[in-house]
Amino acid sequence: MIKKGIILSGGMGTRMSPLTKAVNKQLLPIYDKPLIFYPLSILMLAKIKDILIVVNRGQLNQYKKILPDGKRLGIKLNYVEQSKPKGLPDAFILGEKFIGKNKVALILGDNFFYGQNLSKKLIECTKINSGAKVLLHRVSNPEKYGVAKIKKNKIISIIEKPKKFISDLAITGLYFFDNKVIKFAKQLKPSARNELEITDLLKKYKKLNKLSADYIGRGGAWLDTGSLEDFYKTSTFVSAIENRQGFKIACLEEIALLNGWINKKKIKESIRFYGNCEYSSYLKKLI
Ligand code: DAU
Repeated sequence: MIKKGIILSGGMGTRMSPLTKAVNKQLLPIYDKPLIFYPLSILMLAKIKDILIVVNRGQLNQYKKILPDGKRLGIKLNYVEQSKPKGLPDAFILGEKFIGKNKVALILGDNFFYGQNLSKKLIECTKINSGAKVLLHRVSNPEKYGVAKIKKNKIISIIEKPKKFISDLAITGLYFFDNKVIKFAKQLKPSARNELEITDLLKKYKKLNKLSADYIGRGGAWLDTGSLEDFYKTSTFVSAIENRQGFKIACLEEIALLNGWINKKKIKESIRFYGNCEYSSYLKKLI
């Protein structure tokens, strides 16, 4: 079982400037909670409790105000600062000590996942013995993502933001790796856009026949929060579902309670922490 997870929550958020000039993108609201709650909830649903959050240098205090150490949630939150956005695989170099000899999951701080049976699938993915695993999702704009071409259920090629169509299966921002990921990340060279590319890292596993894929089918949602437009579309999606059902998406305390990681006392602590607000009213209903 993978027990450690990293959230990559830095980046300059240039496409969303001026909103991101003073505040990191992952702290901006997707409807009723900061964006980072959503990827964090995904790791928690995968039963991962030991989490490293990679943040931009100088922004640690912003994060610690909303997600201090994880105790209230029955999890352990660790932080590391990234000096500049060197690329997604930098997470494994910065996280070397945190990962130790373990396997690790990586989720991008700006990725949103939702759907029935998602938790079951996530837990399945954490059971990899060796190699790497990715989750694929069909999209109408594959040129914006890392893309995988599949033949007979196997990944036969991977391209980062392909200019020419090869497949409409995007590689989502949730990855599961064995411990070799640290060694492989260190071997990577920056791409033309001067970043270490996650797709180059995946290619190393593919070459060794150690890359597997699962799917988020059309009943599940993987949404992008890359541009301002996509950001607000995701917000609208959350608002529509939450108001229809009366359940919250990515309520961290609710997941922790259902996982048996915290008790009602801790929820009361959270209510005091957030103060008198709609989120706290929801927590009150839980207990
Ligand atoms: O969203 C999935 C896609 O994410 C994959 O399909 C692509 O293969 C992968 O390269 C990545 O593409 P993007 O170009 O969309 O990644 P972006 O630069 O937007 O970074 C994603 C998140 O990671 C964002 O929240 C900022 C954070 N980040 C990024 C870099 C490069 C960091 O914290 N540090 C970094 O060095």
